[in-house]
Amino acid sequence: MLTMVIESIKITNFRNYSFEKADLYAGLNIFTGKNAQGKTNLLEAVCLCSLGKSPRTSKEREMIKSDKDRADVLITLKDDYLYDKVEIVLSRDSNKRVAVGGLPISRIGELMGVLPTVFFSPDELKIVKNAPADRRRFMDIALCQISRPYFYTLTNFNNVLNQRNKILKDKRATKDAIEVWSIKLAEYGAKIAKSRKGFLKVLALRSAQKHDFITGGEERLELSYEGLEGADEKDIYNHYFAQLKASMDYDIAMGYTHDGPQKDDIKFCANGIDLRNFGSQGQQRTAALSVKLAEMEIMNENIGKMPVLLLDDVLSELDSDRCERLLTSIANYQSIITCTDVPALPSKAKIFNIVAGKITESYLK
Ligand SMILES: Nc1ncnc2c1ncn2[C@@H]1O[C@H](COP(=O)(O)OP(=O)(O)OP(=O)(O)O)[C@@H](O)[C@H]1O
Ligand SMILES: [Mg+2]
Repeated sequence: MLTMVIESIKITNFRNYSFEKADLYAGLNIFTGKNAQGKTNLLEAVCLCSLGKSPRTSKEREMIKSDKDRADVLITLKDDYLYDKVEIVLSRDSNKRVAVGGLPISRIGELMGVLPTVFFSPDELKIVKNAPADRRRFMDIALCQISRPYFYTLTNFNNVLNQRNKILKDKRATKDAIEVWSIKLAEYGAKIAKSRKGFLKVLALRSAQKHDFITGGEERLELSYEGLEGADEKDIYNHYFAQLKASMDYDIAMGYTHDGPQKDDIKFCANGIDLRNFGSQGQQRTAALSVKLAEMEIMNENIGKMPVLLLDDVLSELDSDRCERLLTSIANYQSIITCTDVPALPSKAKIFNIVAGKITESYLK
């Protein structure tokens, strides 16, 4: 199996950074710094090269240093003995440019899986706590990195859903015309639901194991998929198409499509309690973390690359036992962890310090 690691990150005029380079270690990389020094900005730059977008803004220009016109992030990767690089250039007056291995790519789908990452910040609590849309986004980000066909199917599904919703609002549209879009929607929808169901099945198993370890056996985590019915793609298609047919009058009256993967959800239970509504902050946080660690393993099993784990400000939110167990469980993967103070470390780690957008490497413990 290949072991992919980030060798180095170079950032130029990105957020509060002018020009910085960091050479990473293959295991734990701890970036410490006071508030507002550039810790989250650095992880954002890594996410940008992984998914082509920021986890915290859809306005790409915000990431360019305020007094500059162009930002540049270059990440060098090593897959065993093969080197690769991902470069993203953002500019104020043109679209972003992405290059993999020095060659420009035209579709962002081509970036998926090149530099797989799993990002976790206190905000990721939303996977458990917030509305279903956040849980769907979580599944989609993981699945898009695992499978480019999933990325394209999702794009097609969303386009067809928009088209169907548009025609539902058009008073002149016939039922036959709507049905054409129902067929396409059911086709793409069945593929998405099948992938999500399969992912959830493995995720439930792996995250229960992670949760058991981090909570020291105190909590049993159970996840389940809430969405379209059906055992396989054909079966899901039949159910979904029948559902769209049955609710067509209602959809026309309301002017949008009610049923489908755009309503999917994940149920989170710990010791039988629905964490979405009744979990404590700590329980929700630990469950979200277990799920993210499980996601890493699933990505590794599917694409043969262990994703780089990005943990933003997460350690301070866990009690010392959970924190130590977490660091122990990730010691064999590459991770980039930000925190205000160096935590108790169970294994070797490279420590960096960030002050006002300047990175200094202190020591390898
Ligand atoms: N486009 C930009 N140009 C210049 N500076 C920016 C830009 N965007 C954000 N900043 C600055 O970057 C600084 C650091 O932000 P960042 O979110 O990385 O801090 P942090 O180290 O993660 O802090 P905390 O511990 O509070 O989370 C902030 O002071 C912010 O004003
Ligand atoms: Mg931060």
